[in-house]
Amino acid sequence: MTGALQLPPAFRLVAFDSLDSTNREAARLAARGGAHGTIVWAREQTAGRGRRGRHWSSPRGNLYCSLLLRPDRPARAAAQLGFAAGLALAEALERHLPEGVSLALKWPNDVLIDGRKAAGILLEGSAPAAGRLDWLVLGVGVNLTSFPEDADYPATSLAAAGAGTTPPAEVLERFAAAFLGWSERWHTDGFASLRLAWLGRASGVGGPATVRLEGETVAGRFAGLDESGALVLELDDGSRRSVSVGDVFSLAA
Ligand code: BTN
Repeated sequence: MTGALQLPPAFRLVAFDSLDSTNREAARLAARGGAHGTIVWAREQTAGRGRRGRHWSSPRGNLYCSLLLRPDRPARAAAQLGFAAGLALAEALERHLPEGVSLALKWPNDVLIDGRKAAGILLEGSAPAAGRLDWLVLGVGVNLTSFPEDADYPATSLAAAGAGTTPPAEVLERFAAAFLGWSERWHTDGFASLRLAWLGRASGVGGPATVRLEGETVAGRFAGLDESGALVLELDDGSRRSVSVGDVFSLAA
């Protein structure tokens, strides 16, 4: 089931009707030597995964895909590709939204529509030698036609925001093209231009923010992003604390 997707030649599509999880399938491909640029796409997932071990509701009609990447960078730097993906998703989705509906990015990788979560990104990788990545899987889930009512963070879909019917294939094509542009920029110019672009679309800069880490919740004012992609929080006592994007980067076995 491949259809006739128009993808940049840098990508190779592997399409499924149903999978447990496109991230899992991409990791299985990676373990068998799968190539940089492979995109795994499924119409539905039976065991979709969100960040921090959460379930990702994955009925038909929404977009579920994972990019297998082999960036020759340390894991911490490669996690910056999550920002490239967030920017690419924003570009792919905003054209479908009616006027007056807002789209914003939420650290590290969520897309919000009118303040509710419409898309999420799950980065998983394997870095066996001295923190250098062997592979990175960048999983993207977009609520196009439906969204879970019981999610931790209030959710929405493009349809609920008035976008009408948005075919997953169309969003995947636009996302892949935009991601290629942003990742090339990251390779040639480094993280600085992504950081500026991301901050220009970010929700809540300057306002209160709470970040949940393993075993710890940190609250403060969202003062921005540092040059590595870490979230900078200003605490009540005026001190600053950076929460590294690496803190939310899970390394699969
Ligand atoms: C999040 O918690 O915000 C991240 C959600 C990521 C979901 C996508 S759907 C495609 C890919 N396969 C998965 O199992 N998860 C990611």
